[in-house]
Amino acid sequence: NIEQRVTALLAQMTLEEKVGQLNQYSGREVTGPASDRKSTLLNSIRSGQVGSMLNVKGVKDTREIQAVALESRLHIPLLFSLDVIHGYQTTFPIPLGEAASWDLDAIRLGAHVAAKEAAASGIHWTFAPMVDIGRDPRWGRVMEGAGEDTYLGSQIAKARVLGFQGEKLGGTDAVLACAKHFAAYGAATAGRDYNAVDLSPQQLWETYLPPFKAAADAGVATFMNSFNTLNGIPATGNAYLQRDILKGQWQYPGFVVSDWGSIAELANWGYAADKKDAAQKALTAGSDMDMEGDAYSQNLAQLVKDGKVKTDLVDDAVRRILRKKFELGLFDDPYRFSDEAREKQVLSDPQNRVAARQMAQKSLVLLKNQNATLPLTKQLRTVALIGPLAKAKRDLNGSWTVDTDTTRITSLYDGLSQRAGKNTQLLYAKGCDTSGDSRAGFAQAVATAQRADLVVLAVGETWDMSGEAKSRTDIHLPGPQEELFKALKAAGKPVAVVVFGGRPLIFDAIADQADAILYAWWPGSEGGFALADVLFGDYNPAGKLPITFPRNVGQIPIAYNQQYNTGRPITKPGDIRYKSAYIDAPNTPRYAFGHGLSYTAFKYSDLKISRPQLKAGESVQVSFTLTNTGKTAGEEVAQLYLRDPVASVVRPLKELKDFRKISLKPGQSKTVTFTLDRDKLAFYNQQLEWKAEPGAFQLMVGSASDDIRLEGQMELLP
Ligand code: IFM
Repeated sequence: NIEQRVTALLAQMTLEEKVGQLNQYSGREVTGPASDRKSTLLNSIRSGQVGSMLNVKGVKDTREIQAVALESRLHIPLLFSLDVIHGYQTTFPIPLGEAASWDLDAIRLGAHVAAKEAAASGIHWTFAPMVDIGRDPRWGRVMEGAGEDTYLGSQIAKARVLGFQGEKLGGTDAVLACAKHFAAYGAATAGRDYNAVDLSPQQLWETYLPPFKAAADAGVATFMNSFNTLNGIPATGNAYLQRDILKGQWQYPGFVVSDWGSIAELANWGYAADKKDAAQKALTAGSDMDMEGDAYSQNLAQLVKDGKVKTDLVDDAVRRILRKKFELGLFDDPYRFSDEAREKQVLSDPQNRVAARQMAQKSLVLLKNQNATLPLTKQLRTVALIGPLAKAKRDLNGSWTVDTDTTRITSLYDGLSQRAGKNTQLLYAKGCDTSGDSRAGFAQAVATAQRADLVVLAVGETWDMSGEAKSRTDIHLPGPQEELFKALKAAGKPVAVVVFGGRPLIFDAIADQADAILYAWWPGSEGGFALADVLFGDYNPAGKLPITFPRNVGQIPIAYNQQYNTGRPITKPGDIRYKSAYIDAPNTPRYAFGHGLSYTAFKYSDLKISRPQLKAGESVQVSFTLTNTGKTAGEEVAQLYLRDPVASVVRPLKELKDFRKISLKPGQSKTVTFTLDRDKLAFYNQQLEWKAEPGAFQLMVGSASDDIRLEGQMELLP
């Protein structure tokens, strides 16, 4: 049994070998040409001073380095890790885009395909999923999470963990997952990456921790801590987070890896005097593995010898790491993930691309569609595809990609050309760049638009404008892209705009005047095909926003569940004097959480609440009829929101409690039922107890957080 094998191995290890297991290095160099760094790393690996490598990939390279690790005295294999965030070779939409699908099975499949490809290519462990709640579109890393809602985020966290790892660790088509960044990284002050975080205990427990708990409950193998502070204590050195909550209250059995250099950064924060002090604080606080920081390798053995760090804590960290190596079967066969034939076969499996295309279809959000501009009809003779991202390939993959080979990426132009066929002529003009302010290409773009029946304008952020260390204070569409739109619109042709990006962007003229807007996020290597499928109506879009789109940066924070009635609510439209309002913009966002249109229409009717009063131990069924009243088959994400209007802690105006994605043929109806139990009515009270308080609750069912179609009431009895 694994526990006995871990204990036996631990008993043979010297202190230096134990510390060795706690070090992780990035090492593209280890397989490259001779260099000082290469020989240092190889020597460290050979002498058992390295537990894991990141950024070495491919069967050939990982096998070669594993062989070096096996030369060490105790032959302990390495864990090979990588940021496999939204695909390995086949790139799926960015996680925020996947979240817009609200399709848990598809998200799980996406993670599974990524894991299968990575595992076939020598990788044991991915640094995903990022389960940080992201409510601030200025923060570059919103692209990497599931958006602003805790319920949706928790469901997605679970789906991704199960997708990466499978039901049980150890399959050669799965990898260890990592719930990151523990915790509250998404609440970085002012949306600036790596910044401090100040949160009330209620917000921490209610909003930021549940997706981590969901990941832990789903069996996630590892956690990564984060760069931020939490109420003054850096997360990496935070014993409350890692020892008390994670390893204490949650009894989490996996291990915690630091973020890149975040242990050493405790000194930069002013929380540790130097690297040695940082190592002592981080290990004591529960950070098990030091990623690319050298804080443990240089100091930990001495700290133990000096009695500053307890041997037990080091042993516990080593145990946690060894356990995972055993669970992966690496001690029985260190080359289990090193089969070149399997690598070739899995990476060339066309089914992976099929899954990525389907996921991309599901991620697209139709924000606006006036006069049924979309889908493009087959009778259209000439379509002008214009814009700086019309032929983009690399940008469609977005940031955090393993594969950037543009020959494997389909641009929107490629997708549309292939779909347009003989009857539709496709014209093209670039129009402008995504940066600078040159309008030199406008004239040609307008001339091209004038020769067409309709314009498809492809604009947005390039791949390097969102992601880690890519926070922005101005989230308008960059460069002269909105000006290009205005020039095209003035040409008098209908304009359907496709917006690419790694965050909610602001585009006022487009929002006000475009005939249709399709939000594409960064849709991945099959994005061009998926967009053509949606633009031509072969796939009816059903994506819904997992994050609020503000009208301007000054409205942030504007997440739907951060809205309260306040003591001064606006009760009459327009009457804002001495009310909680702005004098230069409405309180409402440009596009609300949950918003997303379809080519068909859905009617909500017949709300039934199974019991008006709920006693302890009971649950209530909230059901209604959903009907497709249009002429096209389609899917709708029906959303259940709740408000607790009077409570001992003021509650938000709406909180998502459940959702269902339902597929309906034209004219078809289905009954949809949600179940609410006491847990779904609960919140953290002033004593930080998770409790539901007796009294009335408002129930709202709708198509978006700002499009509630049915309302009802229920009461919780004491
Ligand atoms: O996994 C990432 C993390 O999310 C941010 N810093 C670097 C790590 C490894 O690449």
